[in-house]
Amino acid sequence: MEKLRLNSDYLNLDNQRLKEYLAKAKDARELLYQGSGKGNDFIGWLDYIVNLSDEEITAIKSAAERIKKEATALIVVGIGGSYLGTKSAVEALLPYFDNEFKTKTGKGLKIYFAGQQMSSSYLAQLKKLVAEEEVFVNVISKSGTTTEPAVAFRIIRQLLKDKYGDEFSKHIIATTDMARGALKKYADDLAIPTFVIPDNVGGRYSVFTPVGLLPIAAMGIDIDELIAGARAAASELKTIDGKENPALLYAAIRNMLYGDGYKTEVLVNYEPALNYLSEWWKQLYGESEGKEHKGILPHAMSFTTDLHSLGQYLQEGERTLFETVIDVKKAHDTIEMVAEESDLDGLNYLAGKSILEINRTAMLATILAHTEGGVPNLVLELPEINPYQMGYLYYFFMLACGISGYMLEVNPFDQPGVEAYKKNMFALLGKDGYQELRKELERKL
Ligand code: PA5
Repeated sequence: MEKLRLNSDYLNLDNQRLKEYLAKAKDARELLYQGSGKGNDFIGWLDYIVNLSDEEITAIKSAAERIKKEATALIVVGIGGSYLGTKSAVEALLPYFDNEFKTKTGKGLKIYFAGQQMSSSYLAQLKKLVAEEEVFVNVISKSGTTTEPAVAFRIIRQLLKDKYGDEFSKHIIATTDMARGALKKYADDLAIPTFVIPDNVGGRYSVFTPVGLLPIAAMGIDIDELIAGARAAASELKTIDGKENPALLYAAIRNMLYGDGYKTEVLVNYEPALNYLSEWWKQLYGESEGKEHKGILPHAMSFTTDLHSLGQYLQEGERTLFETVIDVKKAHDTIEMVAEESDLDGLNYLAGKSILEINRTAMLATILAHTEGGVPNLVLELPEINPYQMGYLYYFFMLACGISGYMLEVNPFDQPGVEAYKKNMFALLGKDGYQELRKELERKL
């Protein structure tokens, strides 16, 4: 089977320097596996998927089957790591227009998300959209206290109460902490089935826990393959050394480039099904590394769309960017350019070529142009977008992030900076215990 590979050929790296950075990456990997680095109480994700028992997988699958059987619309309520893993997997692995197609044919479970922001219009319109559907809710929050999903869950469960009366709680599964938090208490009080997010797995590293696996399985995606891909990555990336290990190479190169003044990394795809993979990646790297006034800013673009909006900046703007380009080598569905007798648009020179080939040629042309323009380009070769390869890819990114964070000498597993806005929001909304801060903030407004 073809494997994920990181191609650094376009960077023209100095071999000696690369070796030094690879050695540092290897040390950082050791620190991670030994559990002696910063935030070592949050490294449960390293082995979680390797040790997930058949029994636990079966429990997830049977809950997923129940959702499939009973519902036509699944609403996943969550934010950050309790949202982006599932969103990115369904975007990547379900066909384009999947919900629309299911609406048209009246067959199959549709998926919607709530609690990932606090748009009043979004929530009101979602309620209207699913009014006639058989609705099932998977509410996900590790802490069980995050405001955005908690607010959305209240609104959505009112919808369930209106639809199903006393039976409303039978349409909910909660994924949360084993013992703590308001969500756990609520679920226990109403005998709502729960799945557990382990204490030692942080939100953005939780895609292979029930946080991701349950809704992903409910949508009909083969989680055995996703798990197999993740397990292959866990075993290979732990042991392989040097350039042949894409996680070590990625962590080494991005730290090298960061040291050279490249402060922004743009994750580029040529397949919009990966747009939310980029959002997941942005959270993973942004929250893991952006601290102590350090860290690469993770940014994302989808080409060729964004070449017509941001391409100018990339080619000629400030030279502090580098790109990591995801090259998907095989298309799920193929389509070819056809010849036309008149050739009025002058496109007959493309006749017989697949759209995939044309797209990948655009990619090569862009890599050469951007490299020439002073933007270093790394290429992440993904054999195809399927559950196995996605499982491998998620694990690769998580491991490389842990390694890269340790190379930067930060704790890649906490997010203390996220609390600042929350405190202000609680104070301004009048939550108990925040009166003093409220007065202080009101003086500034
Ligand atoms: O990575 C993290 O831990 C965070 O970004 C969380 O995923 C996010 O804040 C959601 O938290 P919770 O699942 O507790 O609602």
